[in-house]
Amino acid sequence: MNVQDAEKMAALLEPSGYETTDDPGRADLILVNTCSIREKAAQKIYSQLGRFRTLKEGNPRLRIGVGGCLAQQWGDRFFRRAPYVDLVFGTHQIHRLPEMVGELERTRGRIVETGFYDRVRSLGIPAQLAAGAVGTFVTIMQGCNNFCAYCVVPHLRGREESRPLPEILREVEMLAGHGIREVTLLGQNVNSYGQTLPEKTDFAELIGAIGKVSGMERIRFTTSHPKDLSARLIACFGGVASLCEHIHLPVQSGSNRVLRRMNRGYTAAAYREKVAALRRACPGISITSDVIVGFPGEEEGDFQETLELMREIRFDNLFSFQYSEREGTAAVGMDRPVCDSVKRERLRMLQALQEEHTLEKNRACVRRLEEVLVEGPSRNGSEDMTGRTRGNRIVNFPGTTGLIGKTISVRIVEAFPHSLRGEMEERGGADVH
Ligand code: 5AD
Ligand code: SF4
Repeated sequence: MNVQDAEKMAALLEPSGYETTDDPGRADLILVNTCSIREKAAQKIYSQLGRFRTLKEGNPRLRIGVGGCLAQQWGDRFFRRAPYVDLVFGTHQIHRLPEMVGELERTRGRIVETGFYDRVRSLGIPAQLAAGAVGTFVTIMQGCNNFCAYCVVPHLRGREESRPLPEILREVEMLAGHGIREVTLLGQNVNSYGQTLPEKTDFAELIGAIGKVSGMERIRFTTSHPKDLSARLIACFGGVASLCEHIHLPVQSGSNRVLRRMNRGYTAAAYREKVAALRRACPGISITSDVIVGFPGEEEGDFQETLELMREIRFDNLFSFQYSEREGTAAVGMDRPVCDSVKRERLRMLQALQEEHTLEKNRACVRRLEEVLVEGPSRNGSEDMTGRTRGNRIVNFPGTTGLIGKTISVRIVEAFPHSLRGEMEERGGADVH
């Protein structure tokens, strides 16, 4: 969502004459988009801002702005540690950027805007497309009403709000017209899409509608909340041809006690049942997840239950985090905090187990024919091209740049921990569109 917001900012400032540059040394305006979901992301920001301060000493025209969740949370507290910052704008203020940047050009004063609106006005702003992009993101809803005990999102992004279906559909059609072949529908909890709209609709209906957009070969979405994963959505896998066979379904813990303290609204058994239903509807579907280790009160037995759930489900990939306390959340001050060394050790064990599973899953792809959407030259330093399978695995293979944006068939020949290697078999649906 943050990348998307940054692309929206670029699109918004274009009419005022701003262009994006990869070289901060040439910039007259640097906007830093911040995330504060975990402590680590929050810590990085000051070291980055420090580097920009040096640039400002060499270029008096340079203005520095900070947006995103951390800006929302800290507001004018930013100026105390980074007095060279000119603008702090919150998550609901993005649409006002042209106005705020205009003011910065005219005056030398500081601006802080962190108010919430009842509607997020930037929700409908299309993001600027990266040059040569094959896939892109489309925000379908923003905010969250779930209040998981560890999470800052509802506090910093505000309440859940969905974009009207026809507006999303128009954007996807426009993207398909510009040659985009894959769209990832974005929201904090896409499964509750539609609940804030006056007309009756839901996420399954949206997927069905996007599935009919000619030229949009692949649909993905993130993130799903297990408690809101409906039978109608599960039926879309297999039912909507362009919906890729992959779901990111964060479980967070395999222990009911911990899930309850986290306020997740489901049990480990209910999660297992959702996974079973997904696999019944779509055998071979890729399932990825998030886990937090060391939530307050997590005992060794709870952690073992998480490992047990992983061994049973065998996630295709897993993102794991040490719990970090976030200001303003319900978990602040909860009893029985877990010490850092235990968190570190649990994370290490969990990641070692997942590495085994990821490699096992990658190895199972060897000799299979996979449909790959070609994204561009590979980053592995060779002449290879790279793309992704429908299950979201990276595949590198010998090929030419003329294949970018095409869907091809690739025979997998080798599996690595984070990617696959393949050989092109034939041109698939490449010339259809
Ligand atoms: N501490 C650690 N991990 C967190 N996440 C969210 N909040 C926290 C926190 N306070 C993780 C969750 C979520 C992912 C995006 O980040 O696993 O699914
Ligand atoms: Fe945060 Fe929970 Fe909402 Fe996800 S569902 S954004 S973890 S509060």
